[in-house]
Amino acid sequence: MFIEWSSIYSVSNFALDAQHKQIIKLMNDLHSVVSNNTGEQIIKKSIVRIRIILETHLRYEEALMKYCSFSEYEGHRQMHRALLFRTAELFDMHKKKTVSISEILVFIKKWWLRHIIKDDMKYIECVAKLEL
Ligand SMILES: [Fe+2]
Repeated sequence: MFIEWSSIYSVSNFALDAQHKQIIKLMNDLHSVVSNNTGEQIIKKSIVRIRIILETHLRYEEALMKYCSFSEYEGHRQMHRALLFRTAELFDMHKKKTVSISEILVFIKKWWLRHIIKDDMKYIECVAKLEL
């Protein structure tokens, strides 16, 4: 398994945890598709799926932070934009074969797990007030 979910990643919100788990699963799927050398078409589909789910999740998370008037909303949103910009850049580089999917996965994995532990944890109290 490329990434293993652990309770240390829980942000104490059912929907957000479920989305975080789904993204981890999609990254594991892409990792195994690449390791097993499955066809280019399947890899492409897997990449599109990750990009859509990642973007949808980050927007959802931003909406919750906005509705609970999270004080660090803008800074957090900027981090999300930077990640989406960088991943778009990396996937474009992959098309030109200047970076491998494995390298992209390692980058996203590091960014993602660090972001959950270091940044997402800060909004827990605020989001909890929404009682969703
Ligand atoms: Fe976040």
